[in-house]
Amino acid sequence: MKEALLHMLAENEGEFVSGQQISENLNCSRTAIWKHISELRKSGYSIEAVQKRGYRLLTSPDLVTAEEVSLYTGNGTFGKKVTYKTSVKSTQEIAHSLAREGALEGSIVLADEQTGGRGRLGRAWQSPSGTGIWMSLILRPEIPLQKAPQLTLLIAVAASRAIEKVTGLEAAIKWPNDLLIKGKKVAGILTELQAEADSIHSVIVGIGMNVNQEKKHFTEEISEIATSLAIEGGKTYKRAEIAGAVLQEIENLYRSYLVKGFAVIKLLWEARAYSLGKRITARSVTGSITGYAKGITDEGVLLLEDDNGEIHSIYSADIEF
Ligand code: BTN
Repeated sequence: MKEALLHMLAENEGEFVSGQQISENLNCSRTAIWKHISELRKSGYSIEAVQKRGYRLLTSPDLVTAEEVSLYTGNGTFGKKVTYKTSVKSTQEIAHSLAREGALEGSIVLADEQTGGRGRLGRAWQSPSGTGIWMSLILRPEIPLQKAPQLTLLIAVAASRAIEKVTGLEAAIKWPNDLLIKGKKVAGILTELQAEADSIHSVIVGIGMNVNQEKKHFTEEISEIATSLAIEGGKTYKRAEIAGAVLQEIENLYRSYLVKGFAVIKLLWEARAYSLGKRITARSVTGSITGYAKGITDEGVLLLEDDNGEIHSIYSADIEF
């Protein structure tokens, strides 16, 4: 009900919507409307109420609540079921337990702040309150286990397209799934599986995106390697709008991938790739190899040609330039 009311006000932003229109559309009493308006105001929405004219939404806060995100998910089904928390250790943990309890594909977990955000390769992921998108998405693809890395590349393409759509900024992809703007990391993706033998129960896709951090939010060391959309775009953005765009892009690419396979995604990924053709060093637990990034395979494996002309398949590593 609160969500539907917000939709009505947001669709008519800046215009009055009468109490009668609301109560007819949402089939609720004037008292109920008033209660929800008060709740929305408490959450930071500025809503004007004028007798005989009704209610008018003036400004919305930058929140990533279920109500806000649902304004931006369009006709898609991803992001229709949202678990929102103000502060959590990691949205991945919540998404893992929801997936075990049978949550539907497309369900998401969003938090305003993470106190123990996880990155790839066991690293920590800084997730301060009110600044970024800290989101985990549950997928249930019927694909063989060895194809799961393809999904990570798909998500990176989708997130990069969403950034471009909403902000106009171009985010390149550093293998496998870091998003960079002018060489600095703006978003990262962590793909975790619940699987057995050869079958995938669920894929938990964690997306962390720096949206409204200012330079002062990063330590000097971090600001050498990380950035935010606000720093690069010179303005702040509505996190819910970007999260909604990310979900729409993921859903579109994912549906096409399930029918047509990886070929299209591979082309889209390569067109945005930062590392291809560059001389790089791939560091992993087994050692490091330096050479030229030649391309990716259909499995999403990075091909690296060393100085002896030997081609190495890189499955998991940190890439340095
Ligand atoms: C990386 O580049 O190392 C991946 C970072 C992934 C961070 C996201 S934020 C939402 C989700 N919850 C987590 O704890 N991690 C992922």
